[in-house]
Amino acid sequence: MRETFGSRFAVIMAMAGSAIGLGNIWRFPYLVGEGGGAAFIIVYLIALVFLSIPILIAESVIGRKTQSGTFGAMEKLAPGTKWKWLGLLTVITPLIIVSYYSVVGGWSIDYLFKACTLSFRSSSIDSIGSMFTDFSSSVWGPILCHTIFLGLTCLIVVGGVKGGIEKFAKISMPILFLLIVLIMIYSLSLPGAEKGVEYMLKPDFSKLDGKTIASAMGQSFFSLSLGVGTILTYASYIKKDENIITSGLGTAFFDLLFALIAGFAVMPAVFAAGIAPGAGPGLVFETLPYIFAKMGAGSPVVSAVVSILFFLTILVAALTSSISMIEVGTAYLVEEKNMTRGKAVAVLFIGTWALGVLCSLSFGPLNGLHLAGVTLFEFCDKLTSNYLMAFGGLLFTIFVGWKMTKKSVRDEITNDGTLKGNSRLFPLLYFLIKYVTPIGIVVIFITNFLI
Ligand code: PHE
Repeated sequence: MRETFGSRFAVIMAMAGSAIGLGNIWRFPYLVGEGGGAAFIIVYLIALVFLSIPILIAESVIGRKTQSGTFGAMEKLAPGTKWKWLGLLTVITPLIIVSYYSVVGGWSIDYLFKACTLSFRSSSIDSIGSMFTDFSSSVWGPILCHTIFLGLTCLIVVGGVKGGIEKFAKISMPILFLLIVLIMIYSLSLPGAEKGVEYMLKPDFSKLDGKTIASAMGQSFFSLSLGVGTILTYASYIKKDENIITSGLGTAFFDLLFALIAGFAVMPAVFAAGIAPGAGPGLVFETLPYIFAKMGAGSPVVSAVVSILFFLTILVAALTSSISMIEVGTAYLVEEKNMTRGKAVAVLFIGTWALGVLCSLSFGPLNGLHLAGVTLFEFCDKLTSNYLMAFGGLLFTIFVGWKMTKKSVRDEITNDGTLKGNSRLFPLLYFLIKYVTPIGIVVIFITNFLI
């Protein structure tokens, strides 16, 4: 018997667990600021409704219908066709992502340790900055942390869908929400926090160009784990009498909510300390420890507690995402290659660990090794989030809109006509999946390339 998630709550927590991750905590706030504040958020919302939600539903339809991982799903619905390449692509992409994602996950382990040992206490902003560069460019520390992070991920996945993934997500996700809300309240209470709120909310439409629109689309795909088969694989564990529209919309809602809360947790703190919002992972690791330490000057306990909570939040959010990436490959090896779960995970651990080590070293000794003009870490990140995810998402909607019959899609969305609300929504959803989303992705891609 194939395993399934135990309840609707479990499905939403597991899917939201995959969606909510580093993308929400550091990528979203930074892109919002850079892309014109509220102007970016509006484009992001449009991308969410017209592009991401239809892809999420398309992946859910394929997964739940076939009750298989990505590769098996293509073999079942389009046997002996070129679609098997989409199955294979979506097995490989999340494995590339998990390799570099696990390096950043590893950094959060080191920073959690640093927070526990009060290492940020009396540092200046410069020394916090160099603490990050020194650590990330060294050899053994980051590799050890990457190994621990990936090891934890794999241990949870070996535990299985119910005993591992579901259990972990059901406990950790509500805690995660509580943690990020606490940090947001603390952040908003800091003197000077209004500037951060303004940064997030002030619409500056002059910043909206083809690049910003493409980055809003890319962020929306990355944040919801789309186009790489993770949602498809999780949906294959949803019971036949569950409502896949409710779980899809629930996931999208929690992911958006978490991104907004994270923005209001990170940016006010950054501005309160008078630091210019930097880019990418640096913002979180190079500036926030200083802010927490400085804010707690009067009370070292507050500073220690807040920084521990913050890095714990990043770690847990990253773990629930990385398990979904390893699960895609695991489903493939178990279902298509008849491996046991333990053996499948061990094989994946070795492969992703090795690529991750190279990505980690690309901050230090391998810094000079460039692919297409960027380091290996940046190459893996750009290749997957800028191209492969959108390409996978495009193909999934084309598959559901044009390859599957309309009747079989309707049956899956409405549970054979028994869900009346979904039956009413179906014509709109189908129109989005068949025309709006694929055309939208292609147009954004082309304009981004041409302009
Ligand atoms: N959605 C995750 C995040 O926001 C990243 C992710 C991408 C997870 C692809 C699974 C697959 O961090």
